[in-house]
Amino acid sequence: MSLFVKKPLDQILAQAADSEKGLKRTLGAGNLIALGIGAIIGAGLFVRTAAAAGQAAGPAVTLSFIVAAIGCAFAGLCYAEFASMIPIAGSAYAYSYVTMGELVAWIIGWALIMEYALGAATVSIAWSEYLNKLLGGSIPYEWCHSPFESFTDSAGVYHQGIMNAPALIILLALTLLLIKGTQESALVNAVIVFIKVAIVILFIAIGWQFIRPENHTPYLIPADTAPIADQAGKIIADYSGWNKHGWGGVLGGAAIVFFAFIGFDAVSTAAQEAKNPKRDMPIGILGSLVICTILYILFGHVLTGVAPWTDFVDPEKGREASVAYAISTYMTDYQWLANAVTVAILAGFSSVILVMLMGQSRIFYTMSNDGLIPKAFGELHPKFKTPYKSNWILFLFVGGFAAFVPGHVAGDLTSFGTLFAFVLVSIGVWILRVKSPEIERPFKTPMVPVVCTLGAIICTAMIVGLDMQTLKVAFLWMAIGLVVYFAYSRHHSKLKK
Ligand code: ALA
Repeated sequence: MSLFVKKPLDQILAQAADSEKGLKRTLGAGNLIALGIGAIIGAGLFVRTAAAAGQAAGPAVTLSFIVAAIGCAFAGLCYAEFASMIPIAGSAYAYSYVTMGELVAWIIGWALIMEYALGAATVSIAWSEYLNKLLGGSIPYEWCHSPFESFTDSAGVYHQGIMNAPALIILLALTLLLIKGTQESALVNAVIVFIKVAIVILFIAIGWQFIRPENHTPYLIPADTAPIADQAGKIIADYSGWNKHGWGGVLGGAAIVFFAFIGFDAVSTAAQEAKNPKRDMPIGILGSLVICTILYILFGHVLTGVAPWTDFVDPEKGREASVAYAISTYMTDYQWLANAVTVAILAGFSSVILVMLMGQSRIFYTMSNDGLIPKAFGELHPKFKTPYKSNWILFLFVGGFAAFVPGHVAGDLTSFGTLFAFVLVSIGVWILRVKSPEIERPFKTPMVPVVCTLGAIICTAMIVGLDMQTLKVAFLWMAIGLVVYFAYSRHHSKLKK
C-alpha cells in the first residue's frame, strides 16, 4: 500500500458541511486578530526574550523578533490557504493528510507533538518561575528545577534540581479542567487578551523612562565576549559559537524568540468560521502578527534597556522571571507593577497552557480516529464527553518534561517542531498548486512560489540557528516517529483498510 495514500477531500468537505461548525461563519477580522493575540502572547515574550538576549542576541533581540516575524508571516500566509481549502479542525496534520498523503501527515503530526505538548511543558515551567517570584523565591531551588539544572550561589552553596513541582501541579490542575470539559468563553478570552496587552503596554510605557543607553551599547554581542561562569567556576554562558554573537546571534536569538509567535496559526484553524475568509484571514493572521511584532520589539528594547543583558544569564539575577526581576531591581518605585505583571502573567500563561493541551488532545483524537495511534486516544469520557484517556496520557508525557527537563530545552524543541511543520506547510502549498490546481481555494497565498520559498528558507535558517544539542534530540524524536509509523501506524491506518 502506498505511503502517500490521501484522505479524499470531497468526503471531508461533505462531513464538514454536515457539521454545524463547518457552516457558522461568525468571525470578522477583528475577532480573528483578538483570537491570534490571545494565543500568541505568553512565555515566549515574558521568558524567552531575556533568554535570547542573554544567550545569543544581546540588545539586538529586537532584530531577532523581526527575523522570526518575517518567517511567521510567510508561513502564516501558506497556513491560511490550507486552512481555507480544508475547513476542518486538526491543524497542519489534517491539511497534509488530504494533500500530501499519510506519511507526510504522520511526520507533521509527530512534529506537532513537539509544538503543542512540549510547548505546554515550556509554558508550565515559565509559570513555575513566576510563581516562585511572586512567593518571594521561597520555593526551594531543588523543587522548582529539573535534575539537569544546578548552580552554586554567592554563598558558595551548591544547589541541584530534583523536580519542577509547581509546573507539574499547574499541568495537573489544567488537565482536570480539560477532562471536566471547559469551553473558554469568548468573554474570558477577551478579558485575558486585554490584560496581557495592557501589561505589555504598561511595561513599555513606564519602563521607557528607565532605559539606560549604555545597556544598548554595543547592540550586538561582540565576538570576543568572555564566557560567564557561576560562583563555582562552572561556565553558564559561552559566546564563541557562530549563533551566539554578532549577526549569527541575531539568528540564534530568532530561533529562541520564535516561541513567542507560536499560536498565530490558531487563526488559520478558524478559517471555516470566518465570515469572509478571502479578506479576513490574511487580515487576521498578518494583523495579529504585526501588532505582536511591534509590541515585542518595543518590549525587547525596554527590557534590555532597563537591565543589562548579562543579568539574564545569572541565576541569582534575572535569568528567571526576567520581567519581574527587571522591574523590582531597576524600577524600584514600581514594585506594584512587578506584582501586577506577575499575577497577570500567571493567569495569561494558564490560558496558553490550556489552549496547547487542548490542541494536542484534538490532534491525538484525529490521529486516533485515523487509526495511526491507539484507540485509547480517541475514547470519550462517558459523562463529560472529553477524550479523558488522551488527556491523562498527555499529562504523563507533558508532566514528565515539565518536571524533569530544563525550560530552555523544552522551549527549543518546541521551536524546532513548529518550524519544521511550517517548512512542510510552506512547501506543501506550492506542491498542491501545481498538482491539484482545480481545488477551490477561498483564500490564496499571494505570490506563490515566492512566499512559499521565502517561508521555507527563513524557517529552515531558524532551525539551523538552534543549538546542536537541540537539533540532535529533535532528529532523534523524528526518527522515533518513523519507527512508530512503520512498526504500528502503517498497519493500523483506517484509510488503508
Ligand atoms: N506564543 C506562546 C507563548 O509565548 C506559545 O507562550
